[in-house]
Amino acid sequence: MYLRGLEIMRTDETDTKAYPFTIPAIRTLEKLAFRSNVTFFVGENGSGKSTLLEAIAYQCGFNTAGGGRNNAYETDAADSALGASLRLSWMPKVTNGFFLRAETFYHFASHLDTMPDGLLAYGGRSLHAQSHGEAFLSLFQHRFGNRKAIYLLDEPEAALSPARQLALLRVIKDLEGVAQFLIATHSPILLGYPDADILNFDVQPIAKIRYEETMHYILTRRFLERRESVLAELFEE
Ligand SMILES: Nc1ncnc2c1ncn2[C@@H]1O[C@H](COP(=O)(O)OP(=O)(O)OP(=O)(O)O)[C@@H](O)[C@H]1O
Ligand SMILES: [Mg+2]
Repeated sequence: MYLRGLEIMRTDETDTKAYPFTIPAIRTLEKLAFRSNVTFFVGENGSGKSTLLEAIAYQCGFNTAGGGRNNAYETDAADSALGASLRLSWMPKVTNGFFLRAETFYHFASHLDTMPDGLLAYGGRSLHAQSHGEAFLSLFQHRFGNRKAIYLLDEPEAALSPARQLALLRVIKDLEGVAQFLIATHSPILLGYPDADILNFDVQPIAKIRYEETMHYILTRRFLERRESVLAELFEE
């Protein structure tokens, strides 16, 4: 493990009545400890997962639009509202790593196309010439080398078929010994990674939750096991 925890520093200048401090999970957040090499952020849409992940990326020196330290390309997502208020505690500190954000992946691919050396790290083939899912796995396989690093992934499942989500679990397993992962996800497959910490953003303050207690697990399981009755209930007038 490298990143052991974080702390939100509030000063007199902190506007607690504005975004991001109005988000319940952020408003009540003071300190958060990371206890596993793989930590998931889980919670409803809008619960603050991306806001926190982006702030961590900002403090890691990663491009907050997605990328690593060497990817200082321009997009419209350069600022992180929470980043300046965040303090990270490292033991030991790592600078290698990557912030992957599903929404801005396209911009990232465009940027890499402009860097001849950049492509070598991605299998020598433009990410635009690969499907969304292929490009993601290409990224995982070529960029996530066997080195000490921290990877911040925001909904990586957005690009991946269920089979490739399993492939991603395998990639994480292969790298877990040297790398730390923080992953915001809605995927009941990814959340099933063994011995990961799952942090629930739907309660205040943010707290650890068991896999089987997440809404994602409960609803998916109910749907798969009793699809007809769930749909009947849902479509009732
Ligand atoms: N730049 C911004 N200015 C004001 N409000 C914002 C901004 N970015 C996000 N928000 C709001 O902050 C809240 C948390 O957003 P965030 O993107 O962190 O949620 P999330 O947990 O990642 O959700 P999802 O699962 O849908 O990705 C939302 O209500 C969102 O509308
Ligand atoms: Mg999000």
